Amino acid sequence: MITGKYPSLRLRRNRKQSWARRLIQENTLSSNDFILPIFLIDGSNKKESINSMPGVYRYTINRLSQIVDRAIKKGIPMVALFPKTKNSLKNDIGSESLNENNLVCKAIIEIKKKYKNQIGIMCDVALDPYTSHGHDGLIRSNQIINDETIEVLINQSLLQAEMGCDVLAPSDMMDGRIGKIRKALDGSNYKSVQILSYAAKYASSFYGPFRDAVGSKGSLKGDKKTYQMDFRNSDEALREVALDIKEGADMVMVKPGMPYLDIIKSVKEKFKIPVFAYQVSGEYSLISNAIQKKIINEDAVYESLVAFKRAGASAIVSYYADRIDKIIK
Ligand code: PBG
Repeated sequence: MITGKYPSLRLRRNRKQSWARRLIQENTLSSNDFILPIFLIDGSNKKESINSMPGVYRYTINRLSQIVDRAIKKGIPMVALFPKTKNSLKNDIGSESLNENNLVCKAIIEIKKKYKNQIGIMCDVALDPYTSHGHDGLIRSNQIINDETIEVLINQSLLQAEMGCDVLAPSDMMDGRIGKIRKALDGSNYKSVQILSYAAKYASSFYGPFRDAVGSKGSLKGDKKTYQMDFRNSDEALREVALDIKEGADMVMVKPGMPYLDIIKSVKEKFKIPVFAYQVSGEYSLISNAIQKKIINEDAVYESLVAFKRAGASAIVSYYADRIDKIIK
C-alpha cells in the first residue's frame, strides 16, 4: 500500500506551507460534531462552579437558557442533561428518577417549551444520580440486580420520552436493557425516540470529576466493576455493541474516550454505524488543569478532539462543546 521511496519521495514537501497542509488534511471538526453535557441543580438563580472542572458549571432551571442559548448560537446539535439530586431526595431504589417533577423532567420541558426542535435533548437512563448508594441499579444482597433494574429503567425511559426527550442514552450497562426499552417505547407510541446506547462503557477512574459534579462521589459504595467493562478487554466491547445493535440501538457510545480510541476504531470498522465518543470528565479535568498550570498549551484541546474523528467517531460528547468556536479557530 505504501509506495515511493526516499530521496525521490519526501513527505515533508506536503507539509512545507500552511496552505499545502490544509489541502491534505484528512480530518476536521465542526460544531455539528458535538454534544454538550449540562449539569442541573435545584434552587433558583444559581450558576455553580465545579472545583475539579474549571469552566464547567451547574445551572438551576431558571438559568438554563443561558447555556442552551450559547449551545444553539454555536451550532451544537444536542445537549445532554445530568442532574445533581439533593441528598434528601435519594434513596436505595432511586425513586426520584420516576418523579415527573425531577430536575431532568423540568429541564426537558423548559428547553422544549423555549426552543422546540432547534436543539436535541439527550438524557441518561441510569439510577446513579438518584440512589443513596451511588450505583446505576438496584441492590439486593450486595449485588446489582439486572432484570429488576431494567424494569425501573423502562419507566425512567418512558417518563423522559413523555417529557419530550429526543434521545435516550442508557448508561447503566445492564444486560438486555436496550431491547426492553425499545419495546416499551414502541408499545407506548414513542417509536421515533432514538436510543444512543452507552454500549462499551468501561469501569473507569476517569469518571471521578463527574461523580463530584452530580454529587454521587461521596455516596458510591464499592466500584462498578460488576456491570461496567474491564478496561483490559476489547473483544468484549464488540460483543456488547453487537447485542445493542440487535436490540435496536440507533447509535452506540464508547466511553471514556481518549484511552479507548482503539475501541472506537474497531467498532466503526466492524459495524459501520454511528459511533459516538465521550470525552469524559477526567479527560476534561486533566487537560484543563494542565492548561491552567501552563504544563501544556491550549491547542491540546483541539488535538484531543480531532483524535476522536480520526478514530472514526461521528460525534463527541465533550465539556468543551460550548467553546468549540474558539477551539476550532
Ligand atoms: C452515569 C454516568 C457516568 C458518566 C455519565 N453517565 C458516571 C458513572 O458511570 O459512574 C460519566 C461521565 C463523565 O465522567 O464525564 N451512569
